[in-house]
Amino acid sequence: MNAPELRHLLSWRDHSDDFWQQCIESARRHFGARNERMQLRRSLALIFFNPSLRTRTSMEVAAAHLGAHATTLIPGSGTWQFEWRPGAVMDGDRAEHISEAIGVLSRYYDALGVRLFASGTDYAQDRDETLFRTILSAATVPVINLESAFYHPCQALADASMLQEHFGGQARGKKFVLAWCYHPKALPLAVPHSALLMAARLGMDVTLARPEGFGLDAGVMDAARAYAAAHGMRVRESTDLEAAAQGADVIYAKAWGGTLRYADPAAEKVLREGCRQWRVSQALMRSTRSGIFMHCLPVRRGVVVDDAVMDGPQARHLLQAEFRLHAQKAILHAVWK
Ligand code: CP
Repeated sequence: MNAPELRHLLSWRDHSDDFWQQCIESARRHFGARNERMQLRRSLALIFFNPSLRTRTSMEVAAAHLGAHATTLIPGSGTWQFEWRPGAVMDGDRAEHISEAIGVLSRYYDALGVRLFASGTDYAQDRDETLFRTILSAATVPVINLESAFYHPCQALADASMLQEHFGGQARGKKFVLAWCYHPKALPLAVPHSALLMAARLGMDVTLARPEGFGLDAGVMDAARAYAAAHGMRVRESTDLEAAAQGADVIYAKAWGGTLRYADPAAEKVLREGCRQWRVSQALMRSTRSGIFMHCLPVRRGVVVDDAVMDGPQARHLLQAEFRLHAQKAILHAVWK
């Protein structure tokens, strides 16, 4: 199978439109050839600094289907505690510097996957992906982002390939609503950023529906607008979820923390608690153009979305999760071409 070539995958923003399209088509081919098994004889280390169900298992199964060996590592639970600070005098309880850990793993494995969420306290560090870039600097094999501070490229590729499959390759122009939803925690920005960029890059008619104070990063918004403009489209923003959902082809629900999260977390929580009505209901889905419901999962039923939607005919979250497996195979193929 032909696969595009990749070194590191931090964000799809670092890669060309051609490459992005090739990876989408590769994931769709894997969807069409679910039972295919290969013997790539490669090795993959998956380092999860944060919890996961889908990303971890889909990558492990993708590796197995391709004939690759995967090792999953949970730092601090069976590994040494890692020191991150450059120049640190390591006389505390952190026994191994991240530079050596990544350098060693690069000598054993043909690629590394890393999940490393946002700090939630240092916006510049999160925006610049400072910690993830520390890993990229230490690695001598390709590194795949399994969700970092600002981006979740594996989720984005799965979402894009599922949407193209759903719309028969004609996602361009379809109405896509990224719907902010209430959540008791201030969740990170990686998935909403990636979903917005993904839909705009597909040329969809994108609306970001969110309350005041829950905008996304300005640089990411600019990038999404540029992707949309290349298709002659615009990215709209709305503070009225019901109005935004009218006639939609896709409702992509997601919760994330507000812009005050970094400067004043207590004020952000007060603001968020005032938005509990931002939930995807059956009535909202009925106002769409037989639109589909998407969510990256995990999702809190009864908080983010009603059971009737999750269990109803418009829900596609399980197919979306299935596409994680096909997308992981496309990414591994690209890495190991
Ligand atoms: N959507 C997603 O990344 O799921 P996990 O956090 O379970 O990996």
